[in-house]
Amino acid sequence: MAACLPVLAILLSFSFVVNPQPLYNSTAIAPISWINSPAILSANYSDYSSTRVLLLQLNPDGLGPSFAAGFYCNFFSSNSFSFSIFIVNANSTGIVAYSFPPRVIWTANQGYPVTENATLQLTSQSGLTLRDSDGSIIWTTDVGNRSVAGINITEYGNLVLFDKDNSSIWQSWEQPTDSLVIGQSLAGGQSLVAADFFDTSLTDRAYLTLLAGGLFAFVNSDPQQLYGHISLNSNMSVDNSTFMTFANGTLKMSSILHMPNESQVLINLEAAKGIQYMTLDYDGHLRIYEYNSTNDNWNMVRDLFGTEKCNYPASCGHYGICSIKMEKCICPQGYFTQVYDQRSNLGCSAITPITCEDANDHHWVTISDVSYFNYIDDTAFSIIDVESCKEACLRNCSCKAVVYYYYENSYNGRCFPLSEVFSFKKYKANSIESPNSYGSAYIKVQVAPSPSPSASPQLSSSRVGLGPILGSTFGALLLFLSLIIIYLVCLRRDEEEQEDFIEKLPGLPTRFSFEELQVATENFTKKLGEGGFGIVFEGSWANKRIAVKSLHNIGHVNKDFLMEVQTIGSIHHINLVRLTGFCADKLNGLLVYEYMCNGSLDKWIYCSEGRVPLDWPIRFKIITHIAKGLCYLHEECTQKIVHFDIKPENILLDEKFNAKVCDFGLSKLIDRDKSRVMTKMRGTPGYLAPEWLTAMVTEKVDVYSFGVVLVEILCGRRNLDYSQIEENCHLIALLEQKSKRNELLDLIDKNLGDVELYEEEIMNVMKLAMWCLQWDGNRRPSMSAVVKVLERAMEVDSSLDYNFISSIPMITNAASQVDESASLLTSSLSGPR
Ligand SMILES: *[C@@H]1O[C@H](CO)[C@@H](O)[C@H](O)[C@H]1NC(C)=O
Ligand SMILES: *[C@@H]1O[C@H](CO)[C@@H](O)[C@H](O)[C@H]1NC(C)=O
Ligand SMILES: *[C@@H]1O[C@H](CO)[C@@H](O)[C@H](O)[C@H]1NC(C)=O
Ligand SMILES: *[C@@H]1O[C@H](CO)[C@@H](O)[C@H](O)[C@H]1NC(C)=O
Ligand SMILES: *[C@@H]1O[C@H](CO)[C@@H](O)[C@H](O)[C@H]1NC(C)=O
Ligand SMILES: *[C@@H]1O[C@H](CO)[C@@H](O)[C@H](O)[C@H]1NC(C)=O
Ligand SMILES: *[C@@H]1O[C@H](CO)[C@@H](O)[C@H](O)[C@H]1NC(C)=O
Ligand SMILES: *[C@@H]1O[C@H](CO)[C@@H](O)[C@H](O)[C@H]1NC(C)=O
Ligand SMILES: *[C@@H]1O[C@H](CO)[C@@H](O)[C@H](O)[C@H]1NC(C)=O
Ligand SMILES: *[C@@H]1O[C@H](CO)[C@@H](O)[C@H](O)[C@H]1NC(C)=O
Ligand SMILES: *[C@@H]1O[C@H](CO)[C@@H](O)[C@H](O)[C@H]1NC(C)=O
Ligand SMILES: *[C@@H]1O[C@H](CO)[C@@H](O)[C@H](O)[C@H]1NC(C)=O
Repeated sequence: MAACLPVLAILLSFSFVVNPQPLYNSTAIAPISWINSPAILSANYSDYSSTRVLLLQLNPDGLGPSFAAGFYCNFFSSNSFSFSIFIVNANSTGIVAYSFPPRVIWTANQGYPVTENATLQLTSQSGLTLRDSDGSIIWTTDVGNRSVAGINITEYGNLVLFDKDNSSIWQSWEQPTDSLVIGQSLAGGQSLVAADFFDTSLTDRAYLTLLAGGLFAFVNSDPQQLYGHISLNSNMSVDNSTFMTFANGTLKMSSILHMPNESQVLINLEAAKGIQYMTLDYDGHLRIYEYNSTNDNWNMVRDLFGTEKCNYPASCGHYGICSIKMEKCICPQGYFTQVYDQRSNLGCSAITPITCEDANDHHWVTISDVSYFNYIDDTAFSIIDVESCKEACLRNCSCKAVVYYYYENSYNGRCFPLSEVFSFKKYKANSIESPNSYGSAYIKVQVAPSPSPSASPQLSSSRVGLGPILGSTFGALLLFLSLIIIYLVCLRRDEEEQEDFIEKLPGLPTRFSFEELQVATENFTKKLGEGGFGIVFEGSWANKRIAVKSLHNIGHVNKDFLMEVQTIGSIHHINLVRLTGFCADKLNGLLVYEYMCNGSLDKWIYCSEGRVPLDWPIRFKIITHIAKGLCYLHEECTQKIVHFDIKPENILLDEKFNAKVCDFGLSKLIDRDKSRVMTKMRGTPGYLAPEWLTAMVTEKVDVYSFGVVLVEILCGRRNLDYSQIEENCHLIALLEQKSKRNELLDLIDKNLGDVELYEEEIMNVMKLAMWCLQWDGNRRPSMSAVVKVLERAMEVDSSLDYNFISSIPMITNAASQVDESASLLTSSLSGPR
């Protein structure tokens, strides 16, 4: 009998699912009016977007990605909606919230968002009308004088207004915005326009259109600038009757008038395994995405004009120089600054704006070894010398720069005058690329007649420079990544209070607006510290103190960023500093952390003025907490997280000296554009494991850094302390000597308290530290083994190698292995230490 009950329960619940009231329709009959309100079938998604579905065409399989029409709210604002067609995950009982974020394929009111309580009306006279909540008409369909009977969304993602005979009057397919779905066409004269979604100077200025000769992508300027082309290799004429179809497996061009049955394949594509769509993305790339049911997400299957970021006009914004090798943007030196400090990809602006008045005040800034993105201009055939090229530009006020591509030398090349300057693509000097493909750019700048301090070349962009690569003695190991000092200070709230600080949504940290954080931090005035990842400010929110980190160099604040934030935010452990919120808008990436009142460990272990030294029991507690926090990151999270920058500055202490590790996950957040995760050296000099010099880097680098921190805690000094006499300045070297001479006790910090009382435990931790410092990463313990040793449930490996540093070869080529981007960070290294 008992065994039957579950079966019964299943049957009962099954019968509930089978006959639900349909939650949505794919068709609606005129007249009908919808108000944009939460009452509409709505869903929220992990990227903070939300949808309110009016019409839905369920996937023929009965579940999975399905086309829907309704209100869409993207993640940058909670009260601006578009009327859009999007692909969402649905099943017969509703929209599956927190599935893949909606993919918008068509938008009625691009750039003109509506708010809560806006209405969408379907009438037989005028078809669809979108009115904002104040009644103003935002968008309407043109149905001529035909009478609309209803509206339908088809299984191909076409929104159709039909008449009483079911024949179509208006279709969304005929008015493409930024995307095409399979079967949809782009007619001659139409364009796909990159959506003003977020970010980049290209915002709504990239467009794709069909012209004689094929498919062309331009950045809209005066004159327009061509950056992408898929050519047509036949003499098919292109006019109003020509259209390009995104078919399953091809992009093809056809003409209804001239050669009805002839079509020209523009490009062969992979056959679709599921739903695909092609979109002109906000950054100008023309990408095809496909749904992958295995991971319930969308894969990019093709980037039609190429994935090379520097080939796109907005890669680094106006005047930006895109470095292929470093995937980094820099500004021309001297006369330009970054438009926005922390987002180099948003481009550069002239310190002194250029005027037309006196050409004598115009000077040239030369950038050599560049091309102008992959600018295509076959009309510029004139072969002239570089001086004539520049002179012509000086005479023409609207000319802002020239790009000169050499044939053989500066007397023989092609000259491209530019009226609006987008990104340059930097080659390595003397690279063996075809000499035709690059040359030099000469940018016109204004030198103010009245001496303006800002025009002085000394002001040249010190923030970035392709500066020389560093390298030195043992310090050759040591790289220059960022110092992050976060002092998270006082909090007196118990666990419950913390809970209501977190939003109800599971796993999602609170989303703040920039303005809210501005208020919380008193306009970012109380700076707590600064490091490579960003600046940290103190603030308070809802009567709780918080630490707000403003991230440097986060690249695009996009959905991936949010995913990463979410991952970090979902990691909860008593020995990890909790990410409680964030802010992401067009320009800012900010993280909000709990605030820890005793600041970072470095303030406490290096005998500093006026601080009572921590005694051994407290130090031991701190050590155990760090170990547990790291153990959780390495072994217990669903996704292994390597910290990469364990050091006392990243260990924070609460009022009871409980220790928490902070800044985990950030290196991934910052570098997430890179597919490779661990090939770039990162960390802090003094804490870097030796295998950074070789290829394989694993979580054992954290174990090494932890070992260094242990020795520092035991000895009460920094590993690298240049205030000591020379032979003592490297603590790990000293440790090696002392361990070989069996004089380890000499090293112990005299301020530890009663060393004799704890000697056995201290020596055990010392041995543990030496285990962690093994040259060979494989011989180091895992963090769980470390925890066991601390709990005396395990013994330290008895066969330790005491050559901690003498096995390090003199590294001369260390610097060359360092990703050049590291050197770009050097200027931000001079943070407090
Ligand atoms: C679906 O259509 C039916 C009949 O037209 C209507 O009664 C029902 O309310 C509609 N459902 C929704 C969710 O709009
Ligand atoms: C979506 O999120 C908003 C704001 O966080 C909330 O008010 C709303 O109830 C959520 N809707 C659903 C369907 O979960
Ligand atoms: C449909 O999706 C909802 C939301 O994810 C889920 O609760 C429900 O069980 C699903 N129903 C079916 C029949 O798969
Ligand atoms: C929307 O309209 C409802 C009913 O008229 C009203 O209660 C609500 O406050 C309105 N919402 C907004 C955001 O204006
Ligand atoms: C309006 O409809 C009439 C017939 O009903 C037709 O003759 C006329 O051309 C239509 N006008 C327009 C502008 O379509
Ligand atoms: C609506 O679209 C579906 C799917 O394409 C189609 O089967 C149906 O006939 C259409 N309904 C009308 C009234 O056009
Ligand atoms: C229009 O399509 C609907 C649904 O597919 C169907 O029920 C109706 O009979 C069709 N009407 C005409 C006139 O074809
Ligand atoms: C080009 O046009 C000529 C005549 O106009 C025709 O004979 C030839 O087949 C065309 N070529 C292609 C590739 O369509
Ligand atoms: C294209 O069509 C428009 C009207 O739709 C017409 O005015 C224009 O002349 C046509 N252009 C060509 C090249 O046929
Ligand atoms: C050309 O198209 C017409 C109608 O569009 C069709 O009847 C004819 O069979 C087609 N011819 C070929 C060779 O495909
Ligand atoms: C595309 O074509 C392939 C075979 O060529 C087929 O298996 C697939 O179902 C098609 N996909 C769509 C979305 O039509
Ligand atoms: C779909 O996703 C799975 C899991 O991420 C991956 O292994 C697979 O290669 C993907 N399929 C395609 C066609 O990309």
